[in-house]
Amino acid sequence: MDSIIVEGGRELGGSIPIAGAKNACLTLMPATLLTNEPVTLTNAPRLSDIRTMRTLLESLGVEAASLQDGQVQVLSTREIGNHRADYDIVRKMRASILVLGPMLARDGHAVVSLPGGCAIGARPVDLHLKGLEALGAKLELSEGYVHASAPTGLKGSVFEFPFVSVGATENILMAATLAKGTTVLKNAAREPEIVDLATCLIAMGAHIDGAGTSTITVEGVDRLHGATHPVVTDRIELGTYMLAPAIAGGSVELLGGRLDLVEAFAAKLNETGIEVEETANGLRVSRKNGRVNAVNVITAPHPGFPTDLQAQMMALLCTANGTSVLEERIFENRFMHAPELMRMGARIDVHGGTATVTGVERLKGAPVMATDLRASVSLILAGLGAEGETVVNRVYHLDRGYERVEEKLRACGADIKRVKADG
Ligand code: EPZ
Repeated sequence: MDSIIVEGGRELGGSIPIAGAKNACLTLMPATLLTNEPVTLTNAPRLSDIRTMRTLLESLGVEAASLQDGQVQVLSTREIGNHRADYDIVRKMRASILVLGPMLARDGHAVVSLPGGCAIGARPVDLHLKGLEALGAKLELSEGYVHASAPTGLKGSVFEFPFVSVGATENILMAATLAKGTTVLKNAAREPEIVDLATCLIAMGAHIDGAGTSTITVEGVDRLHGATHPVVTDRIELGTYMLAPAIAGGSVELLGGRLDLVEAFAAKLNETGIEVEETANGLRVSRKNGRVNAVNVITAPHPGFPTDLQAQMMALLCTANGTSVLEERIFENRFMHAPELMRMGARIDVHGGTATVTGVERLKGAPVMATDLRASVSLILAGLGAEGETVVNRVYHLDRGYERVEEKLRACGADIKRVKADG
């Protein structure tokens, strides 16, 4: 397994290009199952998760072409030859569950492995299943697989999510586009990735209103057609790299960055004393003076503070002036970066979903272990500002969600390199 080595203490400058959103692409790709015509996704990120999703779709009979070094994905499903998504692929990537709604809507049947949990939590899919049942699907669970059928097709209905779920909103929204009649989704997720999915589905001929609000209304249509859609900018990659100059010092321009995608996060960064300004090409983040101010963070569904930026924010707050309290309200176990940061000298007290961080002057580099995607990158960020060398192991987590992270940071002056695992 590769490692990434960071020698801390270098101020950053220059610019970082922000790629298309992993979490948008992972729902846009299954959405192409809804039509028998080609759908072209541009600005696609070059990530292992995208390659995994392509492999899954190909196993279902999708013809997938990856052009321009993976930045353009052309997906054509003349017909779905295989309606079974196998456990060996689904267990590697939970977003695989998002093929369920589209296959059911298109052909009236699907067999999809339950994803199982992951490092950050049990992450059940009960809302996905309840929502599809509300559209008339018959579901049976056996041997770890969901057997779904809708022999007379899906029927529109009103469904209220008991709590916000991004994936369940995406799955039901996709299914509803081909259901007979009107579907109203209440307490729907409002993430920019939902808006991006709806924009693509509308380009494919779907009738959708209200995406980005808590109530989404869909008028079912008989069929969808091909389209070309640019994947929205990745707000989590953006927020992650905004923290690089905040932690290391200096000033970096995030090319393609959009303030409207990271409002709550940018406001919190401003509160710490970090300057975020809009430029002609994106966003510029600078840290002029010394230590940042301590702040409190509570993660929430969009437009609140994103749970996917909690670990990275904690890396900044480890050296803030004062004590910060971070509440993780989306996932039950998303503080695994804390013990690793403590190996670097951070002072963090974790009780259930609350982490109390008492800022120290500076962290010290150390060998640390990555446990999940966002925890991995928070350790790299911490290393940028730490004294000495930080070695982040198990970086395969990182490659799932970040394109060539060492290249992007090295281009801004960071002393960072990837060491290939021997053998
Ligand atoms: C999406 O996961 C993202 N993944 C996650 O990003 C992100 O953290 C999450 O949304 C929240 O924003 C993708 O888009 C591929 P949820 P998802 O359904 O859809 C519980 C990353 O780092 N829940 O909004 O799985 C669930 O356990 C990843 O890029 C149920 O109980 O998240 C969680 O506690 C990590 N039953 C909460 O709801 C369900 O049926 C929110 O989950 C569904 C979810």
